[in-house]
Amino acid sequence: MGFRLFPEQASTISFEVDHLLYFLLAVAIFFTVLIFCAIIFFSIRYRRRSDRELPHAVHGGLPLEIAWSVIPFGLTMVMFTWGASVFFKESRPPDNAMQIYVVAKQWMWKLQHIEGQREINELHIPVGRPVRLTMTSEDVIHSFFVPAFRTKQDVLPGRYTTTWFQAVKPGKYHLFCAEYCGTKHSGMIGWIYAMEPRDYEAWLSGGRAMGSLAENGEKLFDDLACGNCHKPDGSGRCPNLVGLYGKNVQLASGAVVKADEAYIRESILQPTAKIVAGYQPLMPTFQGLVTEEGVLQLVEYIKSLGEKPGVPEGSGVTPALNREVPNTQATRPSNATSTPRNR
Ligand code: CUA
Repeated sequence: MGFRLFPEQASTISFEVDHLLYFLLAVAIFFTVLIFCAIIFFSIRYRRRSDRELPHAVHGGLPLEIAWSVIPFGLTMVMFTWGASVFFKESRPPDNAMQIYVVAKQWMWKLQHIEGQREINELHIPVGRPVRLTMTSEDVIHSFFVPAFRTKQDVLPGRYTTTWFQAVKPGKYHLFCAEYCGTKHSGMIGWIYAMEPRDYEAWLSGGRAMGSLAENGEKLFDDLACGNCHKPDGSGRCPNLVGLYGKNVQLASGAVVKADEAYIRESILQPTAKIVAGYQPLMPTFQGLVTEEGVLQLVEYIKSLGEKPGVPEGSGVTPALNREVPNTQATRPSNATSTPRNR
């Protein structure tokens, strides 16, 4: 492979990131050249010609001052709005994205498909389909970096971060860890294999024996006896989990949170952090009893409980999970005063 100035453009966002970069480079180069030329020109044009020469004082110049205020302001606003729009696009996975889970540790990447396939330092994905990554770390901070996709996202212990990409052409692309994480940080590398959809389906069907994430999660749910309290008919001492995923949950504190992956993870590992309204803080912590991969299996299992077709919005859900809450509040879970009840 020959030398290239920029990495290959292999994802939908890579073109937009590069266009923005070219624009920033062009602006920077234009003004650098302009300033250096002006310095050279003025130092010659207005050089001191004799010892007795006195320069005449200049008292402002309104058109000039307006120009050097308005032009940079306009340029920085273009950079800001353009950059923000690319950032928003890059940080919001489309709804139809397929889900991949990533667990980082010193010094490897563990990747899981919801169908059950597990990979180490390799990830197979189909071309032309958005892929959403939900990532966490078992130890220190790592960073998931695929230059060809222009994707880089920190992977943090104790919480989930997400990113997404959509490959545009089949190929084999470098995966790096981009956050110094210890002795073998430089060896924490891998490959992304972007495949034609039918090749991907063939690859995927090669390893179904292990059971899907949700199936393994159901086993774990039974092993941990979660069902003793979380009864599917809502009669248990703890909230019914059927249909929970994606809903807004009314908490005892008055706040409303959206039941996403991070909420479910926290509820397993720190059950007392967010108590659902109408329930007692009975649940023990499962911190140390369940691995991050086990938590992901449980999350997928709970998500799968919400996919029952034909269940209308809100039915079959405990009253505590079924309050009428405007959807817009869900994005600010910590803002306890934003619920309608407290207004
Ligand atoms: Cu993991 Cu650097």
